[in-house]
Amino acid sequence: MIKDELQALKRNWEEGYFPQWLVLDPEVYELEQEKIFGKTWLFLGHESELKKPGDYITRMMADDPIILTKNKKEEIKAFLNSCSHRGTRLCTEDYGNKKAHTCPYHGWTYSMDGDLIGVVAGNKLFGEKMDKSEWGLRQVPRVESYQGMIFGNFDKGAISLEEYLGDMKWYFDIMLGRSNGGMEVRGVPHRWIAKANWKMTAENFAADPYHVQSTHRSAVEMDLTPTSDPMYASYGHQVVLDNGHGINVITSSTGESANKYQGLPEYLWSEFEGNLTKDQLDVFSKVTNFVGGVFPNLSFISTGSGSEETKHNHINFRVWRPIGPDKIEISVWYMIDKDLSEDYKEKSYKGFLNTFGAAGTLEQDDTEIWARIVEASQARMARDRKLSYNNVINYLMGLDNLQQDKEFPGPGIAYPTCYTDHIARSMHEYWLELMTKEEGEET
Ligand code: FES
Ligand SMILES: [Fe+2]
Repeated sequence: MIKDELQALKRNWEEGYFPQWLVLDPEVYELEQEKIFGKTWLFLGHESELKKPGDYITRMMADDPIILTKNKKEEIKAFLNSCSHRGTRLCTEDYGNKKAHTCPYHGWTYSMDGDLIGVVAGNKLFGEKMDKSEWGLRQVPRVESYQGMIFGNFDKGAISLEEYLGDMKWYFDIMLGRSNGGMEVRGVPHRWIAKANWKMTAENFAADPYHVQSTHRSAVEMDLTPTSDPMYASYGHQVVLDNGHGINVITSSTGESANKYQGLPEYLWSEFEGNLTKDQLDVFSKVTNFVGGVFPNLSFISTGSGSEETKHNHINFRVWRPIGPDKIEISVWYMIDKDLSEDYKEKSYKGFLNTFGAAGTLEQDDTEIWARIVEASQARMARDRKLSYNNVINYLMGLDNLQQDKEFPGPGIAYPTCYTDHIARSMHEYWLELMTKEEGEET
């Protein structure tokens, strides 16, 4: 029984050692769907994607097709995208604007509030037993937003989104709440399928700047990243947050940045200074890259990488949606401050496309490595389930030689380098805690 095996693993858990069989095991995958994706807050989209009443977008929330709508009262609602009649997918477009959704199968119609408002020849064909008010679309049990970021949760009894995000909110405020107009998603999210396990992609962004100097070597050679110093992604702080979240606040080797506020233009600085606290401004003025993750599978990077022409700040958020132990669907949202000039946005968008868009150089480097992790983890020796030290992978970096930096101005447990596995170990612990948690038990 997988549950017993995981309980045994928990009892014998040794920090820094992660059994490789956990990466691709199909029973682990099934249990993750129930214990992790069925219980935690999952990112669905950004409020700027739903501008006016009648706007809708369709998304996947773990395995469930979801439709998000903006109703007449400008409230955002989220429903299972499945008709209540025979269950077919109601809406097949990615986005649009409508007064109502009509099912392609037998023509039932639903309002933007999810109510069933039209049944073809309903009066003639259905008797008294059919009460339309009982046949609306099924709502996602919980939908909440923070800084425009919309999340859903299948678990009615889950803690609130804000409580779940905890201290990550402080960093979200810097990235998303700094300017008066807020952020907007430009274009539609890029979406593609990759051979990878979601745990490995999530940890790559949240917890692993160490890979940058090697995996992305070609970016240095092509002058897309600023320096050939192999430690260049280590400077700054790795910050461990609650609930498996984490962020790397990367600076230059001096602890500063050559470009204040990530090189964003001066005409926005007074907005930043009006919206952020002194400590947030201190961090924001020195950072070159923020890169991190919200457990389980939302990651982000706020960076200025790109060629000289396109070197402008850009933020992208990405969901690694598992569609099997060895396969994920990647969705990437590019976001930018609404108050920036069109010219800046255009250059920044090109910088994003060159680096972290679906065909971006940096994205391709990582995708190749993640596929190789899958290939090698299929090996008989890697799948050996006995608890021993020759079938684990290594997360020992910084384990016993690194002191917390108590002077760091932001919340969380900050370590004075980003080349450490502190966030990865915290993600593993939270993963195991959720995987072994029984119904009704507190974490
Ligand atoms: S399945 Fe939608 S109307 Fe029949
Ligand atoms: Fe990478």
